[in-house]
Amino acid sequence: MSKTINMKKLINIVIAIVASVSLVSCFNNSKPNYQYFPNMYKPVGYETNGEYKIFPNQQEAMTPPEKTVPRGFTPYEYENSTAGLELAKAELKSPYKVTEENLAVGNQLYTIYCAVCHGDKGDGKGILATREKFLGIPSYADPGRNIVLGGIYHVETYGLNAMGSYASQTNEKERWQIAMHVMDLKAALKGEPGLLEASKAGASADSTGVKANIAGTNTVSE
Ligand code: HEC
Repeated sequence: MSKTINMKKLINIVIAIVASVSLVSCFNNSKPNYQYFPNMYKPVGYETNGEYKIFPNQQEAMTPPEKTVPRGFTPYEYENSTAGLELAKAELKSPYKVTEENLAVGNQLYTIYCAVCHGDKGDGKGILATREKFLGIPSYADPGRNIVLGGIYHVETYGLNAMGSYASQTNEKERWQIAMHVMDLKAALKGEPGLLEASKAGASADSTGVKANIAGTNTVSE
């Protein structure tokens, strides 16, 4: 009797040794260990930038369809061309009111982005102009230029020849704020009242392209 028990014990021990040796021998350091409930770790949805057979090129990340618009982005309809600039000058209006606050923000941003070339006063004599790093920087009062809000916004968005685009550094509202400040600079250069004074006086300031804004509506110019 006791002999058979010993035999059983021995077999159990042998089985245990074989099992543990075979388990250890299967362990591969270069691979992840067993996972329990893998759904806890692996997402059911597709992962961004994941590779899956059902997608073209097996890439989850795809180019958005044409004319896709990012959230919060307002498409700009005018073409990047001379004709587009002329059209923007003729008809593009600021959706923002001329306020002291907008002008103050515009002033700050102008100092950061534009003054190096155009000068603090907008006379085209910024430090890069006086050092002749950039040539052909106009004064905003240049009569041949017809500087108006829509045109300023257009060149800020696309740039113009030697002048680069500011669409990546500034958002839409900031570009309008800068444009307002530029109109103020132009008025100062010409000795005319600025945007706020002009609108307070109730006069339609033709040269600035901005009409009185007494009622506080959002339609600013005509
Ligand atoms: C690197 C120098 C430089 C900087 C910085 C710069 N500009 Fe200009 N800008 C120019 C030059 C050069 C021109 C003339 C382009 C031409 O007509 O070929 C110009 C032209 C313009 C014009 C005239 C467009 C027209 O209708 O003829 C406006 C308005 C203007 N810039 C506004 C701005 C504003 C606003 C900023 C800042 C956001 C700015 N610029 C920053 C160099 C610069």
